[in-house]
Amino acid sequence: MASLKVGVIFGGRSVEHDVSVVTAHQAMAALAPDHEVIPVYVTREGKWLTGPGLNDLAVYRDKRWGSAGTPCFISPETGTGGLTVEPAAQGGLLKRTRDVRYLPLDVVIPAIHGTFGEDGTLQGLLELADIPYAGCNSLASAVGMDKPAMKACFRDAGIAVLDHIVLHRDEILSDLGSTVEKVEDAIGYPAFAKPSRLGSSVGIGKAKDRATLQEVLQVAATYDRRILVEPSAEGCIEINCSVLGGYGFQARASVCEQPVAWEEFLSFEDKYMRGGKDGGTKDAQGMEALDRRIPAPISDELTTKVQELAVRAFESIDGAGVARVDCFVKQESGEVWVNEINTVPGSFAFYLWEHSGIDFGGLMQSLIDIALAGHRQKQDLMFTYESGMLDKDRGGSKRG
Ligand SMILES: Nc1ncnc2c1ncn2[C@@H]1O[C@H](COP(=O)(O)OP(=O)(O)O)[C@@H](O)[C@H]1O
Ligand SMILES: [Mg+2]
Repeated sequence: MASLKVGVIFGGRSVEHDVSVVTAHQAMAALAPDHEVIPVYVTREGKWLTGPGLNDLAVYRDKRWGSAGTPCFISPETGTGGLTVEPAAQGGLLKRTRDVRYLPLDVVIPAIHGTFGEDGTLQGLLELADIPYAGCNSLASAVGMDKPAMKACFRDAGIAVLDHIVLHRDEILSDLGSTVEKVEDAIGYPAFAKPSRLGSSVGIGKAKDRATLQEVLQVAATYDRRILVEPSAEGCIEINCSVLGGYGFQARASVCEQPVAWEEFLSFEDKYMRGGKDGGTKDAQGMEALDRRIPAPISDELTTKVQELAVRAFESIDGAGVARVDCFVKQESGEVWVNEINTVPGSFAFYLWEHSGIDFGGLMQSLIDIALAGHRQKQDLMFTYESGMLDKDRGGSKRG
């Protein structure tokens, strides 16, 4: 395929901002041999910047993005077809409209993890702008981000998930005592409390008794309006599997991995901060750096079961692009519960596809091909309908 102008949007107003910077840089390096990469960095405050200088991790270590990038945005207006950019020296968007440049983009790759990137909001903007983009559409992204919503979809598709209840922040803050009793009745101990819509284990806590339950509920309630509480998957191992497909591309599963947690569950530190010197990774390697076993040391039978469930979970939310489906597996009984789907997985799960016969460049090309197919499919649909209601000669105010 001819070289395309590929916008990669990363960073963002998300607790996973830094992880996204790493994911995007890995992806941009994989795209660079075949395509023209246009980095679009969204700061923690939500400012959009673009410029070739942003394709350098040192910029983020040294906090130099302000000088390396130029303010830009994607207009929701259909037909602009890309980025609206203002020359660096001007400062302040649209002060002098004649200086504004349009940078066309053939396709956008959302590489923001979590809030305002993986949750359907960015996808909604790209829908309005009518720019082809990789990954899930806005609904699938929103569902994949919201733990109660995704579990409802999985359950509806006959996929085993752990039971759960949803608590509201207000009840936790106003009446902790009865909220705790509610959890004890419905779930018991040990229980996991999770904000509905975060990621990277932020705000998640495990409670083995009433005192810790009170604590973890209050912590979770600082992060979200809705808190999911479910039993701990005791005696299980975690097995992840990536899925690639959508828009006419048959969804297929990668090899499975077993991420290896150092403590009781995978915390943000386990996922991203291990492996560097002094216990922390200044030379961030993203999800690639996580200790993991690939392929996962489970039976062929269980591997197939996880892969089938991963594909079904992906399809149940109408997934597209590349996702990672995380499961709890009880080896003795052969039971598998799907825990969650990540629709913008760390490092785009390239390390799983590398073990499945697709290199990182090939994975990015697949994401582009799927994105373009999705956009073409949408163009074939009818979005307009001539009602005639507003025709001059129709008169009256008849209701239609
Ligand atoms: N019900 C559970 N039982 C056991 N461990 C859990 C449970 N829920 C979450 N965990 C642990 O917490 C981690 C983060 O939870 P997860 O639901 O994946 O949220 P996130 O969206 O933050 O990744 C998981 O990878 C797992 O290690
Ligand atoms: Mg997870």
